[in-house]
Amino acid sequence: MPDSAADDRTAAELTTAVERALGGVIDPEIRKPIADLDMLGAISVDDAGHASIAVKLTIVGCPAADTIERDVRTAAASVPGVTDVSVDVSVMTREERAALTEKLRGGRAARVQQFGPDSLTTVYAVTSGKGGVGKSTLTANLAVALAERGLRVGIVDADVHGFSIPGILGLVDASGAAPRPTRVDDMILPPIAYGVKVVSIGMFVDSSSAAVAWRGPMLHRTIQQFLGDVYFGDLDVLLLDLPPGTGDVAISIGQLLPNAEVLVVTTPQPAAADVAERSGVVARQTGQRVVGVIENMAGLPQPDGTVLELFGSGGGAEVARRLSVGQDKAVPLLASVPLSIPLRAGGDQGAPIVVTDPADAAALAIRAVADRLATRGRGLAGRKLGLTVT
Ligand SMILES: Nc1ncnc2c1ncn2[C@@H]1O[C@H](COP(=O)(O)OP(=O)(O)OP(=O)(O)O)[C@@H](O)[C@H]1O
Ligand SMILES: [Mg+2]
Repeated sequence: MPDSAADDRTAAELTTAVERALGGVIDPEIRKPIADLDMLGAISVDDAGHASIAVKLTIVGCPAADTIERDVRTAAASVPGVTDVSVDVSVMTREERAALTEKLRGGRAARVQQFGPDSLTTVYAVTSGKGGVGKSTLTANLAVALAERGLRVGIVDADVHGFSIPGILGLVDASGAAPRPTRVDDMILPPIAYGVKVVSIGMFVDSSSAAVAWRGPMLHRTIQQFLGDVYFGDLDVLLLDLPPGTGDVAISIGQLLPNAEVLVVTTPQPAAADVAERSGVVARQTGQRVVGVIENMAGLPQPDGTVLELFGSGGGAEVARRLSVGQDKAVPLLASVPLSIPLRAGGDQGAPIVVTDPADAAALAIRAVADRLATRGRGLAGRKLGLTVT
């Protein structure tokens, strides 16, 4: 039954009210109101309060279709005076889709990368000399912690051989494979986990081809495609998870994102300091700035009060000291993240501990890094502005 106040509303007033209510419906993949994405067609309400709404999806089989249709229904039905709702779902024409992708790029030409020196996104490349020191685990948890602080965050998992970000963030289907992102023409919509937009090489290979050797140029093109074709929207922070060492990917990142800042991950093992230092030095050679060192797998407190230093101690401070030599500003040791069984288990289960176990000592250390990065000057702070003194 329409309520009595609504009985007096004319069909035109109801239509306006429904349009207003539909303004709150968001496309879950693009994260913008569907009204702004030109996904709403004709909207009308007849004298009996029956609302008819046309919705245009970007592509056939759009995975967000059910959510959008449900949200449209709910929003329209919430308007007093609307007695029932019918939704007519169709697919955009090629021209409408082209107009949409152009709008989303905001004037940037197709395939042109979105995080160049003029962008306001802070880009952090997470590197290490040695493998297995926890880069991916820290990248994923740091990203989620930054998103929890209200920042718009993306991750590019650039580790071709050992892509692990989708697994750590629970972006896997029943068979353990990462989901294929939705494509709108040549635009790729990154899946979102814990508020973080994620793109990974693991989303584009099938397990049979995962072992194929990747050559430098192919890697370079893939990363270039991630930076150009993936719709991240306006991001505050982009984190890049790199494979270990100073190989082709690190060099490609250096060329494609010379403005990226580098976080060096190392273990407390003094003997690992040399290789960790080298990854920072190579990043510098391509023009990137090392903003800090994170020591991972530090001492694990034992029930008897002692600390188990499985990987020794002091490595993080040593790498920070060495990378500070000859620099205007010392490179800080941002955190010493202890060994943590919940951190490891959370990675295996796809449930990052900064959310599921925020009081864990490792989670606290990672969240402290997020606090520090979140309060660093955004935008042009610390950038070379290219000004010349005349
Ligand atoms: N602080 C920690 N405590 C316990 N386990 C950890 C910790 N950090 C990482 N791990 C575990 O160590 C293993 C390696 O971590 P991860 O994959 O993040 O390292 P990586 O540096 O990205 O490795 P790769 O070089 O292969 O990409 C994982 O099983 C992870 O869960
Ligand atoms: Mg990794």
